[in-house]
Amino acid sequence: MQSFQQKMTRFFSSLWPAEEKVLVFGEGQHDRPAIMLIGEAPGEQETLQRRPFVGKAGKNLDGFLDVVGLKREEIYISNVVKVRPTRVSEKGRVSNRPPNREELALFTPYLYEEILLVQPRLIVTLGNVALKALAGSKAIIGSLHGSLTEASVTHEKQTAAFPLFPLYHPASIIYNRALQEVYQDDLVKLKALLDAEAEQR
Ligand code: URA
Repeated sequence: MQSFQQKMTRFFSSLWPAEEKVLVFGEGQHDRPAIMLIGEAPGEQETLQRRPFVGKAGKNLDGFLDVVGLKREEIYISNVVKVRPTRVSEKGRVSNRPPNREELALFTPYLYEEILLVQPRLIVTLGNVALKALAGSKAIIGSLHGSLTEASVTHEKQTAAFPLFPLYHPASIIYNRALQEVYQDDLVKLKALLDAEAEQR
């Protein structure tokens, strides 16, 4: 994992030499964890602390962990894009924006390499960006959330398929009561899936 992170650091510092772009790496159990959770990209707090899912998104994560009955350090947590995508308003205010095509194209091969290193027993994506990075541009969260599907991941000569359970991004459902219920129902389904897997082991 360390040499993977060093490789990424070398590549991105040669790409963006003048800009201060902080890479926020994945963290947690990186040897066959029960879940690898994949978000979109770090935000402001994540960049300041250099850790994924520590800002508002970290609070959402606590709710997720409560329902599935796992501790943060028992799973592996990462993002598709490892720098914070920002836009600057006319008044100079910096805010988050979704990752653009170029960022996705640069970071997705590293995500695949990371998944093959970690070998998660289950991948859980949060939101459309992470889902599409793994299941292709035609995959849509509205139809795939809360169900078990599969992601085929290739890096260099290595290919492997991983069970994939897509969820809505908790940040995207804050203002939508109906989707919040759907999200909670999906978490209960995920817990049942993990329990069934544990029984088989
Ligand atoms: N923080 C992250 O690390 N990832 C997200 O997708 C959102 C917030």
